[in-house]
Amino acid sequence: MVEITLPKNSKVIEGKTWPATTGATHTREFRIYRWNPDDAENPRIDTYKVNLDDCGPMVLDALIWIKNRIDPTLTFRRSCREGVCGSCSMNIAGTNTLACTMHADDARGTIAVYPLPHMKVIKDLVPDMTQFYAQLRAIEPWLKTDSPTPQKEWRQSPEDRAKLDGLYECILCACCSTACPSYWWNGDRYLGPAVLLQAERWVEDSRDERTGERLDDLEDPFRLYRCHTILNCTKACPKGLNPAKAIACLKRKMVERAG
Ligand code: SF4
Ligand code: SF4
Ligand code: FES
Repeated sequence: MVEITLPKNSKVIEGKTWPATTGATHTREFRIYRWNPDDAENPRIDTYKVNLDDCGPMVLDALIWIKNRIDPTLTFRRSCREGVCGSCSMNIAGTNTLACTMHADDARGTIAVYPLPHMKVIKDLVPDMTQFYAQLRAIEPWLKTDSPTPQKEWRQSPEDRAKLDGLYECILCACCSTACPSYWWNGDRYLGPAVLLQAERWVEDSRDERTGERLDDLEDPFRLYRCHTILNCTKACPKGLNPAKAIACLKRKMVERAG
């Protein structure tokens, strides 16, 4: 029988339970993943009691409150705090989502907060996005043209512009890719739903003149075809987009041009 032994330091242990702040009567418990690369400790789960009378309603508000009032070492990314920058993506109450747009009341009981799944962790709730961004760069997400650059602008009809709806809104938070089992197991070769949605955004753009080249680059058993239509990606997207549909459109275009 095969015995699998996990490295000793991969085990998540129980961490510190921080007391409620003085006078707090209306609190909510958060259990948060902590890991610091600078010590030799295992990852741990710390427990915090957030004073709801002194804190905004979103999960990000609670994290900022904890950092300001209890534990300044808690590390996470955030910028816009309104669902636009995509930095605060993490796994909250078992779902990949944005901490700034998730209302704490939308989760029941104690709220568990982890980094995005199946990514290397840099520290606490901060995942290493290096590979994700390299994959995005690989699809060359910018307008590519051969015609002479027009004096004023690259024009597009309202109908063609409308074809980009549901694609251009992606904020590259990676909630979808890190919810995708195919990406978990083959993330080094499969591009994943977020990057494929971006690829479709440029393939669909009527102004782009390298559609054939873009499709050639995706014609690979792993890059595109590791999608098995499991649909976790669409369920996870906090912006309500449908990466699985974008992938299906790319696959359809592959078939159409082959026939
Ligand atoms: S539909 Fe494709 S991309 Fe989306 S979760 Fe499933 S395998 Fe991943
Ligand atoms: S498709 Fe949705 S979940 Fe995926 S990266 Fe874009 S915004 Fe995030
Ligand atoms: S802080 Fe920008 S999306 Fe949450």
